Amino acid sequence: MTYTVGYIVGSLSRKSINRTLAVALSRLAPPDLRLTEIPIGELPLYSHDHDASYPAVAREFKDAIEAADALLFVTPEYNRSIPGALKNAIDWATRPYGSNVLKGKPSAIIGASPGPISTAVAQQHLKTILSFTDSPVMGQPEAYIQFTKGLIDEQGDIQVPSTAAFLTEYLRAFAVHIRRHHDMSDIQPR
Ligand code: FNR
Repeated sequence: MTYTVGYIVGSLSRKSINRTLAVALSRLAPPDLRLTEIPIGELPLYSHDHDASYPAVAREFKDAIEAADALLFVTPEYNRSIPGALKNAIDWATRPYGSNVLKGKPSAIIGASPGPISTAVAQQHLKTILSFTDSPVMGQPEAYIQFTKGLIDEQGDIQVPSTAAFLTEYLRAFAVHIRRHHDMSDIQPR
């Protein structure tokens, strides 16, 4: 069975290293995972006032999440947390109250930074948020990618063999995580 993974890039930057990483992951993914981006850049800032008349762009965003079998968050760290744009997208996904599309959706987190601590702190914050939104997040392996010059070429291929091997294993583990949650959701309560 092939699973559709919607990836959400936490950066709005045109030259985002995290989008570069996401594209590389798409190329590296095993045959049972198909990765496509769910964009967040056009979402307005969320306000409770929107709940009464939900904007089409937010409806499309939520529909894309619902259509995906799983979500992959590929995000930078901003000031030791997640970017505001990503938090805004998550807030849209959970509203209006009672229509949280993150609930039960298997997910994984990865991120790239030029710095050696990479995105570790942001990822911890994101795990806390996704725990509250009831999205089962893959615990292991964790993936903190220090983005160095030449790591990914212009075609989106990873040039460092040890990183390519690590990310291949990361994606394999994510496929197992997704399958486990989809199999469990088939079990009907007695
Ligand atoms: C950063 N950056 C950064 N990096 C990091 O490792 N930890 C951090 O807390 C921060 N904080 C931070 C705040 C803001 C407002 C910006 C713009 C940047 C640097 C960041 O990792 C770098 O700009 C990456 O290139 C951002 O990822 P994208 O946008 O290229 O995907």
